[in-house]
Amino acid sequence: MPDTRHEPIKVGIGTPLSRVDGVDKVTGQAHYAAEYAVPDVLYGVIVSGRIAKGRITAIADGAARAVPGVVEVLTHMNRPSEAWRDSKWKDELAIPGDPFRALGDDRIQFSGQPVALVLAETFEAARFAASLVDVSYEEEPHNVDFDLSLAEKTLPTYKRKSFHAPKSHGDADKAYAEADLRHEGEYRLATEHHNPMEMHASTVHWHGDGTITVYDKCQGAQGVQSYIASAFGFRQEDVQVINAYVGGAFGSGLRPQYQVQLAVLAAKKLERSVRVVMTRQQMFTHAHRPQAIYSIKLGAERTGKLTSMINDATTSTSRFENNMEDVVTWGMINYACPNMSGAYTVAPRDTYTSADMRAPGAATGMTLFEIAMDEMAYKAKVDPLEFRQINYSDIDAMNRQPFTSKALREAYREGAAAFGWDRRSFEPRSMRDGRELIGWGVATGVWDAQFSKTSARATLTADGHLEVASATADIGTGTYTVMTLVAADTLGIAPERITSRLGDSRLPTAPVEGGSWAAASTGAAVQVACRAVGEKLLKAAAKVEGQPLAAASSVDDLTFADGRMALKSEPGRSVAITEVMQAATIDRIEVEETASTGLSGLVSQARKSRKTHSAVFVEVRVDEELGQVRVTRVVSAIAAGRIINPKTARSQILGGVVMGIGMALHEETLADLRLGRWMNHNYAEYHIPAHADVQDIEVIFVDEPDPEVTPLGVKGLGEIGIISVAGAIANAIFHATGQRHRSLPITIDKLI
Ligand code: MOS
Repeated sequence: MPDTRHEPIKVGIGTPLSRVDGVDKVTGQAHYAAEYAVPDVLYGVIVSGRIAKGRITAIADGAARAVPGVVEVLTHMNRPSEAWRDSKWKDELAIPGDPFRALGDDRIQFSGQPVALVLAETFEAARFAASLVDVSYEEEPHNVDFDLSLAEKTLPTYKRKSFHAPKSHGDADKAYAEADLRHEGEYRLATEHHNPMEMHASTVHWHGDGTITVYDKCQGAQGVQSYIASAFGFRQEDVQVINAYVGGAFGSGLRPQYQVQLAVLAAKKLERSVRVVMTRQQMFTHAHRPQAIYSIKLGAERTGKLTSMINDATTSTSRFENNMEDVVTWGMINYACPNMSGAYTVAPRDTYTSADMRAPGAATGMTLFEIAMDEMAYKAKVDPLEFRQINYSDIDAMNRQPFTSKALREAYREGAAAFGWDRRSFEPRSMRDGRELIGWGVATGVWDAQFSKTSARATLTADGHLEVASATADIGTGTYTVMTLVAADTLGIAPERITSRLGDSRLPTAPVEGGSWAAASTGAAVQVACRAVGEKLLKAAAKVEGQPLAAASSVDDLTFADGRMALKSEPGRSVAITEVMQAATIDRIEVEETASTGLSGLVSQARKSRKTHSAVFVEVRVDEELGQVRVTRVVSAIAAGRIINPKTARSQILGGVVMGIGMALHEETLADLRLGRWMNHNYAEYHIPAHADVQDIEVIFVDEPDPEVTPLGVKGLGEIGIISVAGAIANAIFHATGQRHRSLPITIDKLI
């Protein structure tokens, strides 16, 4: 019977929906890796090495072993010898080099390296005993000074298909020499650490039958599963990894970290369940954003039209792995310029390997490039926003490819209107409010819109409840809610009747969550799985009395809303999903499907450039006497294709902007060069924006239909929000003060 009581209510793609996992998170129902209750668990406390380079010569563990409750002190000398035998043990995102193996041997490669794991029946006993482990070393000279490491810089190895060597065009040196206007600058970014709220933690549940369940803080359950299986000699199917909730990661959980190595080693040795949690200080001993130095030369005509771009950047890596990022390509992709060149190198130092951190490469390269662009705008005496528009490129200028879409002009226009950019005066130091100088700055962001093959399962039960499941992760980004919305959209079922499951290696195959591809990829997988459920429902609908949907030959002829399916051509002819299941006596419909680049509707994967864009407008107020900068207003206008959930999407950008403020003004990990150790390894001394540092932020999503970029037209939002925010802030500080700062963060000492 047609339902005439009310209009169908459609909650789906585009509906601002609160996080479906929000209540579980704020009521403590959501369990994180260290919070799973596992019987008879042993507590492992990591002993961090104190030297930066050398060898362990002796470990005196007698005092530690004498502490009541201590079960074992695991070191390189007594760890299970079968670990890392298999040469294929590298992790999913391994980079060229020799990945770190905790307790692998007596070599020390970075300060804070784990040298022992003390295991005890209580955490307190383990922690106390860990303080008693006495390690002797033979020290070797080390270097953690990035500037000294530049002497050893080398070309990177391009490790992943998404990373590309910069392409040069024309004769950039000649064009630079002949340019009317020339700008040359050297830009820098400090080392930063990710600092997610949740520390890296693993709980290994030893079941005693050869199988283990590992609750791990990571961005990809299946990646960690494969890693554990191959590194520690388990059968793949005997290892289950769960990361149902992740308290932030920003890239630090892309690769398995050493606490999971230690926890599995100990569990294997002792045949017991083990939990290992890093301390906040130990969080500073592994993944970090590389330090960077970036030389930029720009040549332009008097009008401001760019004629030459010369890019040369170096970022830090370790001595044992070669971590590279796309640093120098972004400006070349984004702006029209006939002559361009890019050079990129990596420099090794005696630290842990640098790693991806939110928008790796672009957060460094595009941010710094946008400061250089601002400098050239001032040289040309052109408004900085107009300068960017003069050099606008409708194609990917480095790869010489059309974009699937680029609504950056719209982002400039809408962002500028919301910000009130036209009221800006050009001259630095020309805007003031009492003792505060006011500055307005702008910058452009670019990031990749990526898609990765992903599978999902949809299970519909006779009571009208739908479960959608995929092994992807939600690191705070909103994946659970995205899955729910896409399912609601496809099958017209209310979000309250949908359960999203993720973060379990046993669920359908999904890539590691990162690179801003999760929403586009998992969303597409959920959609194809739900469509397949819809097809089965349509078949079953033949059993419904009167066959109301007989005129439909596929789900494309149907609309799904309010728990009902209706004919598109005749909306009055509809039937409730539960009624269909009942009529056909079906208890459950379960389908697993895979979204891949071969999906229909997704054309021209190659030969087109797929990017997200942003226009960031910033107001700062600077108290020159105190050197205090306050970021009082930010407008971030984002062109990222279709927005699945405007609410969590906005949160993504807000978070990115806050991290951008940190990058501009606060975040900097400083090394004690003599000890070769990060010094400010805690929240007190590693500064991040606090509430008072975050004021008015407005997020705009411009309309950008793009049926080509990914199956749902989604481009992804995890990373675009941070890119160039710090550049816009640096530009605003110049506008306020007349001081040009080329080295981030711009701390108080640099301003006064
Ligand atoms: Mo992101 S740096 O790919 O987690």
